Amino acid sequence: MITGYGHFAQLADSLQWDEADIDFSADREAWPQLTVAENENILGLLAGFLVAENAVSTQLGAYQLVASDPSMKKVFQAQIRDEVRHARFFDLVAAEVVGVPGDDRDARRDALRAYVDAELVDLFEERLPATAQRLADTGEGLTAAVGLYHMVIEGVVLVAGQHAMLDALECLSVPLPGVRRGMELVLRDERWHIGFGSRIVQAADVGVDEVESMLEQGETAAKVWGNLITTEAIETAMRQHRRRLKAAGIKFW
Ligand SMILES: [Fe+2]
Ligand SMILES: [Fe+2]
Repeated sequence: MITGYGHFAQLADSLQWDEADIDFSADREAWPQLTVAENENILGLLAGFLVAENAVSTQLGAYQLVASDPSMKKVFQAQIRDEVRHARFFDLVAAEVVGVPGDDRDARRDALRAYVDAELVDLFEERLPATAQRLADTGEGLTAAVGLYHMVIEGVVLVAGQHAMLDALECLSVPLPGVRRGMELVLRDERWHIGFGSRIVQAADVGVDEVESMLEQGETAAKVWGNLITTEAIETAMRQHRRRLKAAGIKFW
């Protein structure tokens, strides 16, 4: 069994950033100049990230609680710190760049919820919390929960959305440099989160059935973005997913 997750905590400390340091002044000026299609696409993806990051930043506490290895516990804590920052970053974009009204983050997320597919909301606000709750209640199933959360949700659903957002930002008629900078930093954080989850799954030596389940869950979950991401983006994310499962030492064909 591979133990010791301390290097992920060190990596997390070395990659800290602050959303308040990002300059959104050019983005604020550019936003009203976007075309209707550009506006709809960016707003939809932003709404998805607001729902997702607000949800995951509160659900990971169950994982930290259940982890018995102290070094793993510490890394979950570092990940929660990242996810809370991601939620703040997307909210800042909503408030400062888009001008979404609302007194707080929850109000702005609620105002944007209608821009995403009900499937995405259901995944992040019903199905994932149920998994986290089961984990907290029973104290069992951490590997399967990490497989679902880190490898499927972060590794496929969120990465596919993040790449779709970066591609969309790349092609805009007027650039949004602050949003782009923040997205790159979010993606950098997510890479180590996925690496951390892969390491847990690798150490647990999971069976063929669990791998099949992670593959199936990936295929299904990636579709929650609806029309906001392309089939190619899903296929790319699934290819990476298979590669990660393989790299984790799992034989599945
Ligand atoms: Fe995140
Ligand atoms: Fe993450």
